[in-house]
Amino acid sequence: MAEPRSPDVFARARFRLALLFAGIVVILVVVSGFITYLNVRSDLQTAARGAFSSGETEQEFVTRSLSSFRWRLLAVDGAIILAVGIGGLLYARSTLRPIRDNVAAQKRFIADASHELRTPLTIMKTDFEVAMRAPGFAEEARSVLRSGLEEVDRMTGMVEDLLTLSRIDAHQEQLVDERFDLAGLARQTAQKLAGLAAESGVTVQADAADSAPAAGDERHTRRALVNVLKNALEHSPPGGTVEVRAAVAGGVSSVTVTDHGEGIPPGEVEHIFDRFYRADLSRSQERGGSGLGLAIARWALRRMGGDLVAESTVGSGTRMTLTLPTPRS
Ligand SMILES: Nc1ncnc2c1ncn2[C@@H]1O[C@H](COP(=O)(O)OP(=O)(O)OP(=O)(O)O)[C@@H](O)[C@H]1O
Ligand SMILES: [Mg+2]
Repeated sequence: MAEPRSPDVFARARFRLALLFAGIVVILVVVSGFITYLNVRSDLQTAARGAFSSGETEQEFVTRSLSSFRWRLLAVDGAIILAVGIGGLLYARSTLRPIRDNVAAQKRFIADASHELRTPLTIMKTDFEVAMRAPGFAEEARSVLRSGLEEVDRMTGMVEDLLTLSRIDAHQEQLVDERFDLAGLARQTAQKLAGLAAESGVTVQADAADSAPAAGDERHTRRALVNVLKNALEHSPPGGTVEVRAAVAGGVSSVTVTDHGEGIPPGEVEHIFDRFYRADLSRSQERGGSGLGLAIARWALRRMGGDLVAESTVGSGTRMTLTLPTPRS
C-alpha cells in the first residue's frame, strides 16, 4: 500500500510538469529544425551537383524540391508530435501518480475512519437513551443528556454521509429502481419535519397534489428531500413559510421546495452542490452541517435519470427543484 506523501508532492509535480512542457517545446524546435536543415542541405547538394541541368529547368527543380520537402517535413513533424504526445502522456502519468496515491489514501482514510466511528456512536446513542429513561435524574441532567443525544444523532448523520461518499467513489453505492409516489413522499417528509419547523417558527405548506408517480430509489429520494427541506427551514427567517409543491408534466415528476430566506449569490448557486461546500461557514458549523447533503442528493437523482437544481435571488429566497422520471408503463 502506498504511503501518504507530504504536500511537497505538489511542488515536485509542478516542477516535473513544467519540465515536461519545456522539454516538448525544445524537442519540437530542435528536432524539426535539424530535419529541416538536413533536407535543405541535401537539396542544395543535389543542386550543386547539377541535378537540374539534365533536362530539368531551374524552376522545375525548385518546384519539385519544395513539394518533396513539404511532404517530408509534414511526415517528420507528424512523427515527432506523435512520439512527443505519447511520451508526454506517459511522463505526465508517472508525475501525477504520487498525487493520485495521495488522494486515494485520503479517501481510504475517510472510509475507514467513518466506519470506525459508527460503533462508538451507536453505543453512545444507546447509553444516552437508556440514561434518559432511568428514573431519578434531575431535569438539568436530562437536558444535558437530550442535548448529548442530539449531537450524537448529528454526528451519526455526518458519518453516514461520509460513508455514502466513500461508497460512491468506490462505485459501491447501489441504487434500486422502484416505483413510488413522489408527491406522497414529499408530504410525508414535510410532516416528519413539522416539529423541526415549529421549533424555528417556520410553517411548511405542503400542497395536496394527488400523486406524482416516479421511478427511482425511494430511500435516496427521501434523503434528498429531507436535506432540501432542512436547508430551506434553516435558511428561513422565524415566522417565514416554506412551500412544498409536487407536479407531473411531460414524463417528469417534480417537487419544488421554496423558501423566503436570504438567498444565495449568483456565483455561488452551482457551488452549493460541491462536496463540503458551505456558503455561510459560521452558521453551518454552528448547526453541524458538513456540506455533503446536496452533493449526495444531486449525485443520486442524476443516477436515477432525474436532477436537482437551484434557483435563488438574494434577499427573496431559494427554490430547489427535484425531478425524477415517471415510470414507463
Ligand atoms: N435554501 C437555501 N438557502 C440558502 N443557502 C442554502 C440553501 N440550501 C443550501 N444552501 C447553502 O448550500 C450549502 C450546502 O448545502 P448542503 O445541504 O449540501 O450542506 P449543509 O446543509 O451545510 O450540510 P449537510 O451535509 O448537513 O446537509 C449550505 O451550507 C448553504 O450554505
Ligand atoms: Mg443540508
